[in-house]
Amino acid sequence: GKIIFNGEIKSRTDVKVDIEDRGYQFGDGVYEVIRVYNGELFAGDMHLNRLMDSAKLIQMKVPFTVAEIETRVKELISEDQLQEGIIYMQLTRGVSPRTHAFPTSDVEPVFVAYTKEIPYAGRLKPGAKGITTDDIRWLRCNIKSLNLLGNIMAKQVAVEAGCDEAIQHRDGLVTEGSSSNVSIVVDGTLKTHPASNLILNGITRQVMLKLCADHDIPYVEEAFTIEEMMAAEEVLYTSTSVEITPIITIDGQKIAAGAPGPVTERLQQLFADEIE
Ligand code: PDD
Repeated sequence: GKIIFNGEIKSRTDVKVDIEDRGYQFGDGVYEVIRVYNGELFAGDMHLNRLMDSAKLIQMKVPFTVAEIETRVKELISEDQLQEGIIYMQLTRGVSPRTHAFPTSDVEPVFVAYTKEIPYAGRLKPGAKGITTDDIRWLRCNIKSLNLLGNIMAKQVAVEAGCDEAIQHRDGLVTEGSSSNVSIVVDGTLKTHPASNLILNGITRQVMLKLCADHDIPYVEEAFTIEEMMAAEEVLYTSTSVEITPIITIDGQKIAAGAPGPVTERLQQLFADEIE
């Protein structure tokens, strides 16, 4: 396959990562995952703007504009003839002798992007299993940082329990999934953690909230407790990879009747309409 390395499209085998790349040594960088449906970026602008925001929040100067990245990425999609899948991209603070402090300003960030094929699952996805776990991460979860140790540890808890996603909480208040945002439905109102430093403001989450606003589905951006979640009518999680998916059991307990609920199904339908 082909990849983007800095400004150029190259063969993957022609690219080498330096052992002193700061992404490799410190996780010093930021990333994005963008879905491709029908050969086109889904919410590409929102993702690329978030990449720029993440870079800014770690004081990294990006040597490209959003438009330049978009042009390259579209070339890569057509080069790879990608119809359904994702594009992964990351920016690190560059290559420099190892020392914690930022390198001098002449050191350029390193940009890498590549595609991966994923079949489009369609709108009727079966329910997922969740497990609650402590949110052990740092306090800048709004940054889409390459440092994912907390997220990885959480996902492993889920996998070892035979679950699909780990639902993280701080002192009983649910923050988000290990690689997704989590929402509940109470009295027909969708409730989801507000965009703050404690969660990544998911693009799928933002698209979903816009769908709620446009289609008169009541919603509030408010944190909820594990107890509220366990007693909710519906629980769902959202991300670029899982789109909008119901969670039907948590910690081995059924949520309501243990089946996808009407608000989740309505949102799945509306989300599919955005894609198709
Ligand atoms: N993860 N929260 C976290 C911690 C995430 O890692 C993600 C996405 C989300 C959802 O964001 P979005 O809707 O913009 O994909 C929320 C990506 C897909 C990943 O790391 O693979």
